[in-house]
Amino acid sequence: METPELTTPDRPARQGKRVAVLGLGTVGSAVARTLLDEDWRANAASRGHTVPVLVGVAVSDVEKERELILPEGVRLTSDVESLVVADDIDIVVELIGGTTAAADAIRHAFAAGKPVVSANKELLARQGRELEAAARDADVALRFEAAVAAGVPVLGPLVWDLGANRVTSLRGIINGTTNHILSTMAADAREYDEVLSEAQARGYAEADPSSDVEGLDAAYKLTLLMRLAFDGWPEVDELRRSVPAFAGETAEGITGVTRAHLSAAARLGLAIKLVARASRLADGRIQAAVTPMAVAASSPLGSTGGVTNLIDFDADPVGRVTMAGPGAGGPATSSAVLADLLVLGNSNASTWEQLPPASEVTVIDDLGVERGWFVAIEGLGAGGLPGTIKEMALASTDEGFVTPPMTLTTMAAKLGLFGQPVSAYPILSDA
Ligand code: NAP
Ligand code: HSE
Repeated sequence: METPELTTPDRPARQGKRVAVLGLGTVGSAVARTLLDEDWRANAASRGHTVPVLVGVAVSDVEKERELILPEGVRLTSDVESLVVADDIDIVVELIGGTTAAADAIRHAFAAGKPVVSANKELLARQGRELEAAARDADVALRFEAAVAAGVPVLGPLVWDLGANRVTSLRGIINGTTNHILSTMAADAREYDEVLSEAQARGYAEADPSSDVEGLDAAYKLTLLMRLAFDGWPEVDELRRSVPAFAGETAEGITGVTRAHLSAAARLGLAIKLVARASRLADGRIQAAVTPMAVAASSPLGSTGGVTNLIDFDADPVGRVTMAGPGAGGPATSSAVLADLLVLGNSNASTWEQLPPASEVTVIDDLGVERGWFVAIEGLGAGGLPGTIKEMALASTDEGFVTPPMTLTTMAAKLGLFGQPVSAYPILSDA
């Protein structure tokens, strides 16, 4: 497509593909602000990039008061479809979120032959198979680096720089909101609601934060990682998101993790983290889940605090590769969106690059295997742990103990002795 010069009274003439940004919230405003920043543009150009030009922005409410004032020449509209298909738009950046308006916008872009950059992990996890097929059919790029670990470059390196490897497993902390909540509650003994409000104020949380705290957001990201590492789109709803609970409610994500659990774990040298993981079995099936796990507090995963994300890939021949950095928030996420835009300045490469179209993958739960457990028991009272449990435990404290490796079934049989609510956190032994 031609990329004529754009000249406005505010900005000098320059070449570059013309961009529509859909959404001007936490991420969209950070992306738009940077695209309009002359220093950023000059720096990107000095590094050899053909710098894209912001031409239009779509929001749901054009009357809303906003911090970012768009210059003359950048139009603001609530008519997403008209903006996407307009002749003066070359690339569409979808930062609306959700699975309806965002999906429509991307499909309109593909139908008009326009590449798309998106940070929308929910949409990609739920409709990735169809969107990938649609992008391939239309021969347009779909890039989504920002959808996993925000500012940490993970997907590009996984597909490209680790391309000589066979990935056998991956695991990590891939939700900044929950890691901020867990690490702050553990360190400052602050209450869950207060820390969640802080994560929302900092722009880490999703529009509906239940997606973060119930583990869905991490499951969406794990789905994208699995697509690129293991060649197929898994069904996101098949991924386990809760630890086993006995004589109590099953709670998804981190919603069942209490300060008592965190402090009992800490007394045993452990931290509780929401860990997403997937590994390839010899028969081709993928064992995967996203649940809180107990990890050594001093380990790289255990000591990862705040909004930081950390992902380990085990791959052959390289061994273990770890990527870490800021995993949520406007500035961090804009870094990945803008990098995708710069790639599209002179290529038509999707995030999956040269990978063949997705095939089928079979996913199984990873809690069926024999492993150690950190068992948290609330309300034991002065009597503490029964002698039978103390005999079984490798280490114990008032409200929790660590078991030797055993299956969930064995664990359930032993814990059947208890009347109190019990949560069993799988231990990640090589965190
Ligand atoms: P947000 O703050 O809620 O912003 C959403 C924006 O979309 C708002 O500007 C809203 O318009 C606009 N919008 C909503 N519905 C629309 C519609 N039907 N038509 C046009 N515009 C519409 O969301 P966000 O945090 O920026 O997240 C955007 C996307 O990035 C999501 O997919 C999210 O999962 C993903 N993401 C977020 C982060 C993060 O740290 N926040 C990190 C990685 C990925 P109004 O302003 O008029 O309401
Ligand atoms: N809500 C997400 C998180 C944003 O907290 O990780 C980044 O994807």
